[in-house]
Amino acid sequence: MDNGITPHMAERKAKGLLRELAVVERLPGGKLMSGGREFFDLSSNDYLGLSFHPALKEAAFGKISRAFGSGASRLMTGTSGCHADLESAVASLKGKEAALIFNSGYQANVGVISALMGKYDAVFADRLSHASIIDGVKLSGARLFRFRHNDTEHLSGMLRAKRPGVRRAMIVTESVFSMDGDVAPLEELTGLKKEHDAFLMVDEAHATGVFGPEGEGRVHSEGLADNVDILMGTFSKALGSFGGYVAVSGEMKEYLINFSRSFIYSTALPPAVIAANLKAIELVKNSHGRRSKLLSLAGYLRQGLKSLGFEVLGESQIVPVLAGTNEAAMKMSRDLREKGFWAAPVRPPTVPEGEARIRLSISSEHTENMLSELIKAIAYCAGGRLKNA
Ligand SMILES: Cc1ncc(COP(=O)(O)O)c(C=O)c1O
Repeated sequence: MDNGITPHMAERKAKGLLRELAVVERLPGGKLMSGGREFFDLSSNDYLGLSFHPALKEAAFGKISRAFGSGASRLMTGTSGCHADLESAVASLKGKEAALIFNSGYQANVGVISALMGKYDAVFADRLSHASIIDGVKLSGARLFRFRHNDTEHLSGMLRAKRPGVRRAMIVTESVFSMDGDVAPLEELTGLKKEHDAFLMVDEAHATGVFGPEGEGRVHSEGLADNVDILMGTFSKALGSFGGYVAVSGEMKEYLINFSRSFIYSTALPPAVIAANLKAIELVKNSHGRRSKLLSLAGYLRQGLKSLGFEVLGESQIVPVLAGTNEAAMKMSRDLREKGFWAAPVRPPTVPEGEARIRLSISSEHTENMLSELIKAIAYCAGGRLKNA
């Protein structure tokens, strides 16, 4: 029987787009082990190295001494005292009245957008929005309008044209973009939200823990929390753990508990994970040294690569180096691996066609020495310019 899978996979392979799983063991110090060899890990989002922090692991072990699984969904018997404590801690970190934990950031985006928006509504999303945002819109049945990346004039025109014809409107963006490492014009977006009576939702998956004096992310540290209706984030990146959340008003939280299907119809995260998340918030608030080291390392790498003529994007701990074709990105990734650097290629559909890249994800566990070796390796792989360095 020709079920269409074989030719579809063959086509994917021919285009250099095949995705494969690599088995690795992450190690402390921003490294990993694979196939018996050690590599520098430039593909993890453990930006502050907190996933290895002993206090985080102790917090989880402390809870495991009772039961591991939560046993039920949140609305049944899956809500423990530490779920409530964690929601208060998230609300306070984010400068909002309340917060709601989801089982992952993906589920948070899908569950919130599909609960709030419906077929008479429209979502205006930055063109580079994460797949979970787009999937949430698809599930909601709302109309989707994608504005040019960070282009508030384009968005403004779209809102003027489309807002009058729909019931509810929502503007969605990421505050630090996952694949480009650049930042959204948040203040302008809050202005448009007010002008057009729209919800504003900001995904702070890559900003939380990294930006703001206490790692609160960009929205709260820029004084904008009151003007953002839904502040979404994840525990799985700088917080070194697992799970997602939204920080919202008390009323919005009640609404989501009643209508967000990815929240309602899924077993609650285990108490051990929740306890680790709570500890992660405490650690992140006190991680000033790790935060400033991280951003200064990223600046060092970005500058070093730019000065050699590479096209480097972003202004955060995410340092994407454009390779152009899928083949070029894959070759650069393979060559870097030979030199001991693990940097996965990112290809369409995750990024636009023709913009395949190596996404270098920096950790505060890395060192300037290691990054200087990386710069030489990238230059060497790209054409041997620094062969004798
Ligand atoms: C911008 C953005 N939003 C949401 C998510 C999903 O978060 P999680 O990994 O917790 O499901 C990710 C992570 O892949 C992301 O990069």
